[in-house]
Order: sequence, then C-alpha cells, then structure tokens
Amino acid sequence: MTYSRIIGTGSYLPPHIVTNKELESRVDTTDEWIVERTGIRQRHMADDATALDLAEFAALRAIEAAGKNREDIDLIVMGTSTPDLVFPSTACLLQGRLGIRNGGAAFDVNAACSGFVYALSVADNFIRSGASKCALVVGSEVMTRLMDWNDRGTCVLFGDGAGALVLEASEQAGILSTHIHSDGQYESLLNVSAGISRHYELLRSEGAFLRMRGNEVFKVAVNTLGRIVDETLAKNNMSKTDVDWLVPHQANIRIIQATAKKLDMPMERVVLTVAEHGNTSSASIPLALDTAIRDGRIQRGDVLLLEAFGGGFTWGSALIRY
Ligand code: UT7
Repeated sequence: MTYSRIIGTGSYLPPHIVTNKELESRVDTTDEWIVERTGIRQRHMADDATALDLAEFAALRAIEAAGKNREDIDLIVMGTSTPDLVFPSTACLLQGRLGIRNGGAAFDVNAACSGFVYALSVADNFIRSGASKCALVVGSEVMTRLMDWNDRGTCVLFGDGAGALVLEASEQAGILSTHIHSDGQYESLLNVSAGISRHYELLRSEGAFLRMRGNEVFKVAVNTLGRIVDETLAKNNMSKTDVDWLVPHQANIRIIQATAKKLDMPMERVVLTVAEHGNTSSASIPLALDTAIRDGRIQRGDVLLLEAFGGGFTWGSALIRY
C-alpha cells in the first residue's frame, strides 16, 4: 500500500507587523476586545508582495527541508483565495518561478480557509493512486487585500502569510486519512463581495471586500469541527488519546479551545499561532505546522490532527503520523 508522507515543511511571513493598537486608530476597536474575543494580538501584512511571492519563500524552505531537487516535484497544489491573477493559477506561476520544467501538474484549490486541507487531500490522493510521487502543497494568502478597513468586524481578524510542505510516496504511513466536505448554502454568512463574473463593477470601483456574519459563522464552525473530529478518529479506529497534537486553522482562539475540549486535549498539545499571525486563511495550518516542527515540539512518529473551516462553507481534516 502506498501512502504519502511529509518530508519537509516551510513557511514565510512578510516582515510588516500590524498590532491591535495600530488598528485602534483605524476603526472603533480596542486591543482588549480583539484579544479577549479572538486571541489575536498582531498580524503580518504583505504590502506590495503577492501570494506568489510569499508562496515562493515558503516553498523554497520546504523543498530545502525535504532535501529534494526542485525537478523531483511532479505536482503542485496550492490553496489560495487571493491568487495573483485569474489565470495562470498561482501554482502554475510558482512552478515557473521555481524553474520546474518536468511537465507535472500545477493548479490552485479555492476552498477559502479550508484551502490547505483541501489541497493536502488532493495531493495525498494523487500520491496514493500512483499519479504522483512527490508533491508540493502550499497555502498562501494576502487576506489583508480583501479587507474593508472601515469594518471592525473583519479587518481586525485577518493577516498574510504562506506555508508549504513536500509529500513523498512511501510504504510507511504517512497521512492516515483526509476528510473534506462542503455545504454551499452559506454564501450569505461569509463571502467576498465581488468577482469576475458577478459584481465586476464593484471590483473595478470600490474593490472586493470580505464580508462575514461572524457570530453565526462561529456557531456553525464550532459544531462542524466537533463532528469532523469524531469522523476522523472513527475512520482510523483511534481514540482521542491517540492524538499527540492538534494543528487547527487559526481563526479564533475560542473556536480552537472548543475543538480541544471536544478532544479532551490540554491546550499545551495544541499548536497556536493565532496571537502572532491572526487568521491567514489557507496559510494558517501549514504556518502552524512548520512552526511546531522547527521548534521541536512535533517529533517524528507523533500523531497530528489538522482541521479547518471556511467560506462555502467548507471544512476538512487530516490525521497524520508525522
Ligand atoms: O476562518 C474562516 C471562518 N471564520 C471564523 O471562524 C470566524 C468566526 N467568528 C468569530 O471569530 C467571531 O464571531 C468574531 C471574532 C468575528 C466576533 O466575535 P463575537 O463574540 O461573535 O462578537 P459579535 O459578532 O457577536 O459582536 C459582539 C459585539 C457587537 O456589538 P453589540 O452589537 O453587542 O453592541 C459588535 O458590534 O462586539 C462588537 N464588535 C466589536 N467591538 C470592538 C465587533 N467587532 C468588534 C471590534 N471591536 N473589532
């Protein structure tokens, strides 16, 4: 049986940090409110850099950690909802930047904040089926470009960044299972207000802004993530105590705490980056994963549960023996 296995991770945060205090002068908010309601203390901002620029740094670090040549990568899947262009896909642009000319497939996956888990699931299935041997999976976002800086309900939440990992075919597990789902009834609770074929005039005039009915999204997210934890463990005949680390999407500390509670997991076993990064959408899980691998918390053999929830709604999980 062929599995896919993580052989290297990397991440990148643009250097410009925006603190909660700085946001107090933009909208009617306070550092105390943001910290108490979300756990966020600061976020990084890409300024002129694009999702491709951030992805390139993260990918190079992951490839270096994996000890692979760039030409070994025969598949690139990128989770992003803030692509550089309508096309080529950001994954194709990344393949070009990396100088990979082996004809492997490269494409983006748009599943909002679940984008990385979706991309990981796709790449894992390509490797399991034998269609790919070595895949680069990336989450890269410039969410600050989608902010309405007059909307305090959203502009304090999001940040920019990128994370990546290299997966290789292996007889040894590896990614134990991935689970991805969506329910397309929820556009009104979380969306970006314009695109190419709808409200294009808005895109050209005012721009496209992320809109969210935060409190309603919060409730669905907590319930849905609780259910996916059960689904993932049941599929692998595992119990809560088998999981060493929870590596969640970093939207809100209170959502993460609810999932940890569901797993009876102490917060010391949860990788948290939400305070420093804010919600970086598709980038948040690979950023958190790379952080905890590089600082030595996550060790080879540990069992990791990754989970995410985002616009669509989309949600997903991955259970991994690292
Ligand atoms: O990653 C994709 C999925 N996204 C999420 O998972 C995000 C889910 N939602 C959330 O994280 C939370 O709902 C928020 C952090 C967005 C909001 O927290 P909340 O506890 O649900 O607050 P709320 O929306 O119920 O608002 C409570 C109050 C309101 O004032 P009133 O109506 O009670 O007077 C808001 O206007 O807090 C007010 N408020 C703020 N006050 C200060 C909203 N944003 C702010 C702010 N500063 N930035």
